[in-house]
Amino acid sequence: MNTAIIVAAGSGTRFGGDKPKQFLEIGGKPLLIHTLEKFENCPLINEIVLVIGSDQLFSYREIATKHRVRKVAKIVYGGKTRAESVFKGFGVIDSATAEIVAVHDGARPFVTTEEIAATVRKAQETGAACLVAPVFDTVKEVRDGRIAQTIDRANLRRALTPQAFHYDILRNALLASELTEAATDECCLVENIGFKISIVEGSPKNIKITTPEDWAIAEIYFQKG
Ligand code: C5P
Repeated sequence: MNTAIIVAAGSGTRFGGDKPKQFLEIGGKPLLIHTLEKFENCPLINEIVLVIGSDQLFSYREIATKHRVRKVAKIVYGGKTRAESVFKGFGVIDSATAEIVAVHDGARPFVTTEEIAATVRKAQETGAACLVAPVFDTVKEVRDGRIAQTIDRANLRRALTPQAFHYDILRNALLASELTEAATDECCLVENIGFKISIVEGSPKNIKITTPEDWAIAEIYFQKG
C-alpha cells in the first residue's frame, strides 16, 4: 500500500487574508482540490492521509463532497511545525500494509501525476527519492555579511515535493529527529540518518504557493493551462 501524506495545516501567516488559502478558488476550484486531484489520478497512490488545521474540517468536508474526493482515507489535525504535521500524518498509517510513503505540500498544486509516479517508482527502487528542480540563479554562501563562496549551480537543485520513502526509512528518520522549524522537508531528516536519497528531475513550475505574489503567478499558470 502506497500512501501520500498531504500537509495543508499551515497557518498562512505569510499569505494573509481571512480564509486559509487552500480553500480559496483558483482556476475554478479550491487550491487544495487541485493538489488532491493529482494524487487521486495517480495509480501508484492507494490512499491519502490529509493533514489540515483543527478548525478546517467543515470547510474540507464541503469541498471534498462537491469535488468527489475518493482517496482520502484519514484526516489528521496538524501540529505547530510542518515536520510535526508530517509526524502526525505518518502516525495514522497502518505499518502492517505500508510500503511507500510520499509526502507532499498541499500548497503545490502544479505537481503532475507523472512526477508523483516517477518519484514513487524511484523510492521503490532505491528507498528514498526527492523531486527536484534546477537552480537558475548564481547562489552565494554568505557568512558574517560577506560572500564566503560561489556554489557551482550545476550541482544545486531545489527540493520540491513529493518526497517518497520506504515506510521504515521515513519512520527511522522521524523518530531520530527533532521536529523543529529547521526540519523544512523530510529529505533533511532522512539525510541526517545517513541514507542517500535519489533524485527525480521535475519541473520548476511545481511552485509552493506561500505569498500573494505566488498566488498571482499561479493564476497565470492556470490561465495558460
Ligand atoms: O510552512 P511551509 O511553507 O513550509 O509549508 C509547506 C506545507 O506544509 C503547506 O502546504 C502547509 O500547509 C503545510 N504545513 C502544515 N503544518 C504546519 C506548517 C505547514 O501542514 N504547521
